[in-house]
Amino acid sequence: MVVLRILRYDPAEDGRPAFREYEIDAIPGMTILDALIHIKENVDPSLTFRRSCRSAICGSCAVTANGKNLLACNTQLSDLKKKRIVLEPLPGFPILRDLAVDWGPFFDSYRAIKPYLITKSPSPEKERIQSQEIRKKYDDAAKCIMCSACTSSCPVIWTDGSYLGPAALTKVWRFVADDRDEATEERLALVNNEKGVWRCHTIFRCSDSCPKDIDTAGCLEFLRRMVVWYSLTGRV
Ligand code: FES
Repeated sequence: MVVLRILRYDPAEDGRPAFREYEIDAIPGMTILDALIHIKENVDPSLTFRRSCRSAICGSCAVTANGKNLLACNTQLSDLKKKRIVLEPLPGFPILRDLAVDWGPFFDSYRAIKPYLITKSPSPEKERIQSQEIRKKYDDAAKCIMCSACTSSCPVIWTDGSYLGPAALTKVWRFVADDRDEATEERLALVNNEKGVWRCHTIFRCSDSCPKDIDTAGCLEFLRRMVVWYSLTGRV
């Protein structure tokens, strides 16, 4: 048996968040998401959480379990090695209800960094060719599934909502490292300030919490070096 201690909160009804406990029969291989679905279907239909793909692809099921941000769909109860598991919504975002948070601020930052390829030269007849070496430079950053586990785990975000955060900055690095993109100066100017790379305190919680093992702190370091190099050469 495993006890799931889940933070419950309905802003329209409750004065403040409170924990509720659910005891479940944990069968081998059962994930946190399986347990949440089991509770919703058999015990308490009011329990609210997000999920979609159940395959660690969509990023919608990110929660905090025993203090660590992770994906509920690819973490088995047995992975946590505890008989008592505390589930909370991702920190740093307003709670909509129970484990579902308001991702509005997260996607505002994402939109602000223009997360798409920008080209200015005329389109070639066929595709824009890229070497395998260049692709490898941003292989790590390209794995991001936008679950917000990294941004939510960053203590800077908890106190300063204007900070773009590791997910958005890693995406900037993804396009700056991509030689098909032709907006490097524009992108670096966008993050060369107190809302961008200079707000990062290199705490490394972002890298620790990424369910795709992306070294987000490392990506930010590469980005900072680019900003410094372009500043020294007068391009930003
Ligand atoms: S449900 Fe899609 S990542 Fe977990």
